[in-house]
Amino acid sequence: MKYKIFGKTHVKISVIGLGFWQIGSNSWKGDEGKAINIVKGALDSGINFFDTAEVYGNGKSEASLGSSLRELGAIEEAFVATKVGGFRPTAYFIEKGVRNSIRRLGFTPFLLQLHWPPPVWIPLCELIKGLEKMVEKGYTEYIGISNFSGKLLKSAIQCTKRHELVSNQIEYNLGFRTPEINIIPFARKEKIEIISYSPLVRGALTGANKKETIAQKAEKKFDIIIKDKELINTIEKISRERRSTKSQISLAWLLNKGTLPIPGTRKEWRVKEYAEASNISLNKGEAHSLDEVSKKYIWTWGKEYKNLKTIRYIPCAFQYIALKIIGV
Ligand SMILES: NC(=O)c1ccc[n+]([C@@H]2O[C@H](COP(=O)([O-])OP(=O)(O)OC[C@H]3O[C@@H](n4cnc5c(N)ncnc54)[C@H](OP(=O)(O)O)[C@@H]3O)[C@@H](O)[C@H]2O)c1
Repeated sequence: MKYKIFGKTHVKISVIGLGFWQIGSNSWKGDEGKAINIVKGALDSGINFFDTAEVYGNGKSEASLGSSLRELGAIEEAFVATKVGGFRPTAYFIEKGVRNSIRRLGFTPFLLQLHWPPPVWIPLCELIKGLEKMVEKGYTEYIGISNFSGKLLKSAIQCTKRHELVSNQIEYNLGFRTPEINIIPFARKEKIEIISYSPLVRGALTGANKKETIAQKAEKKFDIIIKDKELINTIEKISRERRSTKSQISLAWLLNKGTLPIPGTRKEWRVKEYAEASNISLNKGEAHSLDEVSKKYIWTWGKEYKNLKTIRYIPCAFQYIALKIIGV
């Protein structure tokens, strides 16, 4: 495993992290009983960065990540990022949310992220102020955001007064390159760490061709990517030449772009496969081929990062009810 300094912090984290949405959530039905083996596999492979959220399985993801790390006696070596304040975007609920997260984890997170931007009528600066307060109260070491467009990221940075935002967690992968237009160049200038979620398009980049879970069924890009023979064949060709797997090549491409991918899994043996992608340094030719076959995905989904944009027009009470009914 290779390590790097996380954004503007002084903390060394693994270049590949582990997403924990898969465990405890309805969307993936990952077996919580396996959580400890997955976490152990990650730590044994050198992964020390873990991503979870208050909404994943209504807290079950946080609880099983926390209990696994506690049982393994590995709290000190792990850097846990969680997310709050999505459907309850007020400073009051950020604090309430993080206190609940701490209770479930059993320790304070390294990074506290605002899960998604607030509805358009809620002042963003109030929330950023609320996040800053969490550092002052000792509830987290660092603060970040998630699903923020370039424009919103700029506004969020302008809101900060006492603590810097260190990261923006966004969807970024070979099938979704919109962030290259106006998020990644700006983030690089500001030394904001880009955490790439859905690095494998929920499995579509790995050769999987059946949507088994709610999370995969809800991802419209899944069908488009699995039918994109040009892209899949190029990933496959490089992986054959490298004696690696398609997911490793997809992750190596994200490393080559200077981002921090956080693939998720329900299977303990897959964690090692993900971690070993950190040993693959794509050469210029390989990076160029992947860039070429995926360049259409810079513009396919529009020129603005619109993820969760519609949610910004839905009152929080409805977001809350929907999340409770669907489960995440
Ligand atoms: N901030 C946000 O709003 C947000 C949104 C989405 C996700 N995230 C974070 O990002 C993390 C990862 O993103 P993601 O959950 O969207 O998924 P992903 O990492 O793109 O894909 C993971 C899935 O790919 C499947 N997979 C991997 N290799 C495979 C293979 N060879 N054959 C078949 N399937 C294969 C795995 O299935 P198995 O489970 O069977 O191994 C796994 O569940 C999440 O855990 C979460 O922490 C954040």
